[in-house]
Amino acid sequence: MVSPKYHIFVCTSCRTNGVQKGFCYQKDSVKVIEKFMEEIEERDLSGECMVNNTGCFGICSRGPIAVVYPEGVWYGGLTPEAVVEIMDQHIESGEIAEKYRI
Ligand code: FES
Repeated sequence: MVSPKYHIFVCTSCRTNGVQKGFCYQKDSVKVIEKFMEEIEERDLSGECMVNNTGCFGICSRGPIAVVYPEGVWYGGLTPEAVVEIMDQHIESGEIAEKYRI
């Protein structure tokens, strides 16, 4: 996959020194990225959808945060349940999941 149709960045509060310390990490953002990976695999979308973890986006109090490209939509307050809705609405249907948009 050179250029995925969708690229999802999930804040896991990674710091440049390798330490995961921050709001999103404390709010179980690792479970959020794991759920994205699981859903992509189960839906057989690994050829067109890529997910990566990132450091802080600077809006920690709205976390856990994910940003979905190419639209550049920011989602906040994420949970594994929210991931399922974002996968259904945004990734599979091309509609922004307004409930979680920030
Ligand atoms: S730690 Fe995730 S946005 Fe700041």
